[in-house]
Parts: sequence; structure tokens; C-alpha cells
Amino acid sequence: MKFALFVFSGSGNTVKIANKYKSILEDDGAEVITHMITLPLNEVDITPYDFIGIFYPIHAFNAPKIVLDFAKMLPVSNKKLFIVKTSGEPLILNNASSLKLLSILKKKGYNFTNEYSYCMPYNMIFRHDDGFATKMNSTALKLIEVDALELVKSIPHYLKKCPMGGVISFVFRIEHPAMKVNGKLFRVNKNKCVNCMQCIKNCPTKNISFENGKFHFKNNCTMCTACSFNCPTNAISIGVLNSWKVNGRYSLTSEECFQQTTHKNYCKKAYIRYFDEADMRIKNRI
Ligand SMILES: Cc1cc2nc3c(=O)[nH]c(=O)nc-3n(C[C@H](O)[C@H](O)[C@H](O)COP(=O)(O)O)c2cc1C
Ligand code: SF4
Ligand code: SF4
Repeated sequence: MKFALFVFSGSGNTVKIANKYKSILEDDGAEVITHMITLPLNEVDITPYDFIGIFYPIHAFNAPKIVLDFAKMLPVSNKKLFIVKTSGEPLILNNASSLKLLSILKKKGYNFTNEYSYCMPYNMIFRHDDGFATKMNSTALKLIEVDALELVKSIPHYLKKCPMGGVISFVFRIEHPAMKVNGKLFRVNKNKCVNCMQCIKNCPTKNISFENGKFHFKNNCTMCTACSFNCPTNAISIGVLNSWKVNGRYSLTSEECFQQTTHKNYCKKAYIRYFDEADMRIKNRI
């Protein structure tokens, strides 16, 4: 079987998940290519592939705009389609995030067969503690060993529907134009910046430039946090969302635990349910 995985990722969680899918599918004998979704969007030839996978981080209960724009560019086709998403929290409302993406692709004829969602460390709102981030990361990687094999064995898998999810997701899609405006408010603190230019290199929408000794943030921000999360000196402020900024990679070598931070009770029941269901799925693997 031949798979094409199309991946959008800001701080790196989703690309890590996609790479794990790639390695499991390849171990099972499949041919797999991955293609990062970045601007400018170029037409892609999906003719050689049996299965198309779209991987994205959930942004405000939606797929990021660049992912929807990419889907609009895909050709009409009846190929099999699966969707994989990552999120910071295990809310059922996140399941509605793919509705718009699916409506675009189903209209084009794609045959939607599988969908999976993984909790990964937050890159926005607040920082999970490292023990909790380690637990999320290792749970997701173990789950993929189960989930990827469903694809190979043609076992369909869908996520639970969220009542009113479509309406709520539609309302939150205001995030798309809002983030373009907010992106223009990003600033670099000259006193902290070490001119490594990683932010420019990391930006998937080519939204940042450096001219005449100054950084410029243009009109194409999709609020992926690739620049601000990975800045080695935490020099970038992210407009009105600055108090929600998370900067710096998580250390994923800590002992797994429920988090000890001031946010320890945030969505606690939903996380407990997510980990319990994941453990069950991993134990009962096919
Ligand atoms: C602008 C923005 C909005 C987000 N909205 C949500 C959300 O609605 N629900 C959620 O669970 N996580 C949300 N997150 C968290 C990310 O989905 C999560 O950290 C994801 O794993 C990041 O993946 P990446 O590293 O591939 O970009 C949001 C993150 C950003 C930057
Ligand atoms: S990543 Fe940070 S330190 Fe490096 S150039 Fe950009 S703002 Fe400056
Ligand atoms: S400016 Fe930063 S947050 Fe906006 S798209 Fe580029 S990397 Fe992502």
C-alpha cells in the first residue's frame, strides 16, 4: 500500500506524530511519503498513492486555515482519506475540528475511513509540566502502534461526534482572520534576540522577514507558534495572545505523571478519561 502524509505543524508535535505513523507503516511494508504543508501551496500529484493522510494541530476547535486552503487545492479523487490531529486537551469539542476539512474533501469524492486524535503538550495557553508532557507524548506514540495498523488492515475508525460541535467550531473559525491581524502585532525584543534567524527559517507561511536591521511580520500568520515557541531566547512577543505564549521545548525524559503545576486541575476528568481509554486501547490491541 502507498501512503501520502500531508502534515502541518507549528511547534513540532504533529510532525512527530506523522513521523511515527511513517515508521510503523513502513515497518509493515507500506511505501510512505511525507509532505509538509507550507506557503506557497503547490499542487501535489497524488496519483501514485492509495491512501491520503492529513495531519494538523487543532487551533480553536478547527483545522488551521492553511490546512483548509491545502485541501481546497487537492484534486477531485475517490482515494481513501484519513485524518490525524493533535491537541493540548482531550475535549470532545476538538472532534468537531475536522468538519470543515471533511466537507471540502468529501465534496471532492474522497473516501473518509479513519480519524485519530492525540493529546500532546500545549504550545499555547499554558505550559504543561514535563512529567505530564512525557506522559502525553509516550501515550500518543504507543497508541499510534495500534492505530496505524488499523489503516493497514482497512479497519475504519471514527471519533465520537460532539453535540453542537459544528456550530461551535464555525463560530471559533473567526480565529482565522483574527490571527492574521494579530500576527502583524508580533514583535522581537532586540535586547534578547541573538539574530539566529531560526524564526524566519521555521515560519511555514514565510511571514517573517528581516530588512534594514528590523524584523517584519506580514499578513500571513496562522498562529502556529513555530517562531515564538522555538526562539532560543524567548525574544518574540505574540500580540494580544502574549500572556498565553509557551516558549521552549519540553523535556520528555521526565518520569510520567499527572501535572503538578498550578494548572493541575485543568480538564482533569477529561485527561483521566483520555489516558484510561488509551491504556485500554493499547492493552486490547488487535
Ligand atoms: C492558536 C492555537 C489554538 C489552539 N487551540 C486548541 C484547541 O482549540 N484545542 C486544543 O486542545 N488545543 C489547542 N491548541 C494546542 C495545539 O493544538 C497543540 O499544542 C498541538 O499539539 C500543537 O501541534 P504542533 O506542535 O504540531 O503545532 C492550540 C494551539 C494554538 C497555537
Ligand atoms: S529566533 Fe529569536 S533569537 Fe533567533 S532571530 Fe528570531 S527572534 Fe531572534
Ligand atoms: S509568524 Fe510565527 S506564528 Fe505566525 S505563521 Fe509564522 S511561525 Fe507561525
